[in-house]
Amino acid sequence: MRINGSTKLLGLIGCPLEHSLSPLIHNTFINDVRENLVYLPFEIIPENFKQGIEGLKALNVKGFNVTIPYKERIIELLDEVSEESSFIGAVNTVVNKKGRLIGYNTDCKGFSMALKENNIKLRGLNVLVIGAGGAAKAVVYQLIKENAKSIVLTNRTEKRAEDLVKSFNKITNSLIKCIKFDETELVKNILDIDVIINTTPVGMYPDSNQCIIQNNHFFKKDKVYCDIIYNPVTTKFLKQAQEVGAKTIGGLDMLIYQACYSFKLWSGILPDHKKVRKLAVKHLND
Ligand code: ATR
Repeated sequence: MRINGSTKLLGLIGCPLEHSLSPLIHNTFINDVRENLVYLPFEIIPENFKQGIEGLKALNVKGFNVTIPYKERIIELLDEVSEESSFIGAVNTVVNKKGRLIGYNTDCKGFSMALKENNIKLRGLNVLVIGAGGAAKAVVYQLIKENAKSIVLTNRTEKRAEDLVKSFNKITNSLIKCIKFDETELVKNILDIDVIINTTPVGMYPDSNQCIIQNNHFFKKDKVYCDIIYNPVTTKFLKQAQEVGAKTIGGLDMLIYQACYSFKLWSGILPDHKKVRKLAVKHLND
């Protein structure tokens, strides 16, 4: 990467950022496609949030990603948001179009592509989503868009799942329903489900020995288990599924594909994901 007077800036805003994989991912894309860009971490503390965004605008950055804790808060500072971002209520990618900041959400497309690359088409499938936070919203949005047959939501705090279902059912004709976050109930219902997605942080490093579901009967051979956690690359949830011979999809693929789509919004180029995946796995295992 050669930085000169014409280099355009990309970056990531959030707090904290020291463990983020995005600078590694995007600078690898930049090198591969030979664009005159550089991607930097811009850690902004909450008190400086508004000034931070104004600063990025003043510096005429080409665009930036948004991560915890600003994916929702950024919206009020943008000039425009895409349809999916406004529905999900969260933005992870901002494009600076001639001084106008436009927000997008590529988490949903990242999820979709991770499944497609594993030959899973969501159309006509029955899906169980565990969790009801921001990540669950992006997943549910995509499930609706791709015509999943049914969506069942379960969450520790039942009210939160019910609220999410209510907001989505306005556009889906009661395609989504809630079930109790109770292992016996979940095991009973699992037989009718094709794809299960964990959107909670349970099992994330350093608590890698935890799993959102303890009951072994929840894991069945003929189903697909997905986890949005990417560190560890194979969570306990996915390991348990693999042990019974089920297909699994990890969060690293979703992370890399959302990055591919963000990069495309900024540069017009959809970069290759294979090299970056190898580097990311190495980085996480080091
Ligand atoms: P994100 O935006 O990354 O989805 P979030 O909005 O904080 O993060 O949502 C985290 C989700 O994980 C929530 O559904 C949360 O359940 P609650 O609504 O009950 O808080 C779920 N979650 C987090 N820790 C959990 C745990 N130990 N057991 C079960 N669910 C958990």
